[in-house]
Amino acid sequence: MTSLQDQMRVKYDSYTHHTISYHILVNNEGQESERSFDVWASQAEIEAFARDGYLVREALIEGEPLEMLRRALDEVEEAEFEEADGSRLRGRDWIPRHLFDKHADFHMLINFDPLLSLARAVLGPFVRIRQLAARISYPGQPVQFTRWHHHQPGMTEPVPPFFAVPHKLDCLIYLDELNDANGLLAVVPGTHLHDGEELPLEEHGNLAGQRELRAPAGSCVMLHGNLWHRAMPTGEEGKKRRVLILSYGPTWMRSSPFANRPENGLLDGVIEGADPATQELLGIGGYQ
Ligand SMILES: [Fe+2]
Repeated sequence: MTSLQDQMRVKYDSYTHHTISYHILVNNEGQESERSFDVWASQAEIEAFARDGYLVREALIEGEPLEMLRRALDEVEEAEFEEADGSRLRGRDWIPRHLFDKHADFHMLINFDPLLSLARAVLGPFVRIRQLAARISYPGQPVQFTRWHHHQPGMTEPVPPFFAVPHKLDCLIYLDELNDANGLLAVVPGTHLHDGEELPLEEHGNLAGQRELRAPAGSCVMLHGNLWHRAMPTGEEGKKRRVLILSYGPTWMRSSPFANRPENGLLDGVIEGADPATQELLGIGGYQ
């Protein structure tokens, strides 16, 4: 069986790489003063990501690892459907959360350098995972979440001089093809940079400058949390569209506030047995 790590070893050379070294200004002798990362992208790609607020990695995960993630999500979906007595859908999509706690096969995404190294290239050396969630959309569901939105409220007008701009990233890992039938993704490049313009709440139509994204299964769209975007409807002729949402933020940002972690979740054991770098990635330390 091919693991995700094996697959990435094979794919390593198909991406441009560069090294980024952060010198960390310390306060006391003996403190860590340098962190370097092999970034799975060119500097030009990182610049475009910073400018546009999104970056697409087509068919990043394929074959057996992609099947494993699909199966894992299907199993979580089944278990939660049963628990909710089959009445949980109400014509909407389904958003299971805290997936690292619910299925061990998702743990392959914890130290996933093709995405994590890009997060470190734009957020800096102190990065944590805020949550792994998913969104499952069903063909022809009556309630479609198609209005323009972003994932990170909290900007203000005016912006105070010492305001900490809430930069975070959501990596949308599409387990099914992102196409017109399943519902594509539309984004408005540059809207994450906050020029004071208000998000058009309840807007379901096209916006000037929008781009429509289509991509094969296993593709990932990395989004800045403030980027305006919307999913288009999953039509009757489409298939179930499963997307994992892997969220990164700075280590000092709390974990995703949505839903409580399940008791006795699998993540506790992972944190306990992990090296300090992985523990930091999972929210333990790395903050003041
Ligand atoms: Fe969204």
